[in-house]
Amino acid sequence: MKATRVYLLLHVLLSAGVLVHSFEPVTTTLFGLGLGLAAVGGPIYHYLHESCSPRWIHFNPRGLQADLEAKLFGQHIASRIILKAVTGFMVNDNPKSPLVLSLHGTTGTGKNFVSKMIADNMYKEGMKSSFVHMFTAELHFPHPSRIETYKAQLQQWIKGNVTNCARSMFVFDEMDKMPPGLIDSIKPYLEYYESLDGVSYRKAIFIFLSNAGGESITQTALDFWKAGRNRETLKLRDLEEALSLSVFNNQNSGLWHTSLIDKNLVDIFVPFLPLEYRHVAQCVMAEMKARNLPANKAVADKVASDMVYSSKTERIFSPKGCKTIASKLNLYT
Ligand SMILES: Nc1ncnc2c1ncn2[C@@H]1O[C@H](COP(=O)(O)OP(=O)(O)OP(=O)(O)O)[C@@H](O)[C@H]1O
Ligand SMILES: *[C@@H]1O[C@H](CO)[C@@H](O)[C@H](O)[C@H]1NC(C)=O
Ligand SMILES: [Mg+2]
Repeated sequence: MKATRVYLLLHVLLSAGVLVHSFEPVTTTLFGLGLGLAAVGGPIYHYLHESCSPRWIHFNPRGLQADLEAKLFGQHIASRIILKAVTGFMVNDNPKSPLVLSLHGTTGTGKNFVSKMIADNMYKEGMKSSFVHMFTAELHFPHPSRIETYKAQLQQWIKGNVTNCARSMFVFDEMDKMPPGLIDSIKPYLEYYESLDGVSYRKAIFIFLSNAGGESITQTALDFWKAGRNRETLKLRDLEEALSLSVFNNQNSGLWHTSLIDKNLVDIFVPFLPLEYRHVAQCVMAEMKARNLPANKAVADKVASDMVYSSKTERIFSPKGCKTIASKLNLYT
């Protein structure tokens, strides 16, 4: 018994030695490669460092379509509209105005998720790109009293960044919490001007994210469900009126009474539907796959059914959408 153990130990040590030995040429090669790289550093730096060029900014419509179809659950309306709008805008080399999208829906339905998909299929660096700018009320504009400073700053940022790169993307997260009036300050950039002070904003993309209108979208989806109609037959037109009314009348929508709406500067209001139990289960399955866990339908169903479903909406819709799924999954695995 003992002898076998000693033999095994020796065997392990020996094979480890052989392994280390066999790594040596690799290390030497890597070192040489490193020296070589240093010599041609300049061009390589520019090759590796993000710039406003097709090498770094290249829209992939098929990639966006594939991502929307495979990864975004329960959003047949948003999925179709976004693909059409973004593709139509990007294939046009000479757009007449920037693309302005306003995404609406209750929490955890995929608004940030879709913004990321757009960025991933447009910028090689995705959301990390220096041409993608995300503004959050609490982070960038926390003190309502400093609104005048914020307005000037935001204008300067947008102007500076679009001057650097026409294909810039600006995402305004949690519009509901933006100080009133702030968004008005960017209005001139969204208009159909050829250029402003020599800067053209026509190739830029502006995306607003908010919960405003979420309740009315949920109500419409619920009415549909109660009437026994298939969710997938819901059309943008069924939601548009309720959505625009509630966005108009919500003083906290961040868009309330801004001339963005009066002047029709938002191209499209995109509704995100509340997610059902089966979509939440799909999210759990996706999360398992992302973590390289074996797909387990039973666990997915369990996580989804243990989510507290809204009583107000008759326990059909998940009140937090697919949010918190990632942390919930830990409790079941
Ligand atoms: N429709 C969906 N399909 C697939 N995954 C989703 C969907 N909605 C949300 N998720 C998952 O849940 C996470 C949180 O969603 P996301 O941040 O996009 O929500 P949101 O709509 O921005 O919510 P909030 O209004 O609270 O900001 C996403 O990162 C994604 O993993
Ligand atoms: C671009 O926007 C960022 C905020 O995302 C800001 O910090 C930066 O100063 C802007 N750049 C220019 C040149 O204005
Ligand atoms: Mg969000």
